[in-house]
Amino acid sequence: FPVELTDLVREHVREIPDFPAPGVLFRDITPLLADGPAFGALVRGLADKYRGHVDAVAGLESRGFILAAPLALELGVGMITVRKAGRLPGPVVGVDYALEYGTARMELRPDTVTEGQRVLIIDDVLATGGTGAAAVQLVERSGGEVVALAMLLELAALSGRTKLDGHRVDSVLIY
Ligand code: PRP
Ligand code: MG
Repeated sequence: FPVELTDLVREHVREIPDFPAPGVLFRDITPLLADGPAFGALVRGLADKYRGHVDAVAGLESRGFILAAPLALELGVGMITVRKAGRLPGPVVGVDYALEYGTARMELRPDTVTEGQRVLIIDDVLATGGTGAAAVQLVERSGGEVVALAMLLELAALSGRTKLDGHRVDSVLIY
């Protein structure tokens, strides 16, 4: 991504110490979303990288949805919703993955993906990579081809990229 886009994100992310737990530094993107011109520039900047190369944008519930919908519209393609367990009516495919404490599950209706469709996965944060890796599996099991994973923020210390081996990961800002 161009350095201007990285700067834009850095300038609008707020750092909140000790949230949601003591010792954790939370990176909050809500100031970026609340700034109309900045949000617009972000979506156009993301779209410029993928225009003509993707057939659909897959957003990861919840915060990924905020980015996926305007990006899909800007690209003129559809949006695929990868959802938390139990939200989508069947038939769904599901993937369980490990969290720091416990497990989580993401689901997708395979009929929202067409065979060979070039899919861009987008989320706000790449941390341990569990969520992104689950999304890759779901899209591929549904017949889609994952072009790349676009992440607004990447927390490099958590090595999420290693879980996404073999896939292109584009992060706007890496901490
Ligand atoms: C956060 C974030 C990413 C995910 C990254 O979502 O929005 O989706 O964690 O973590 P990982 O790389 O370790 O999997 P969260 O599950 O907190 O839910 P939300 O998007 O609904 O806020
Ligand atoms: Mg999330």
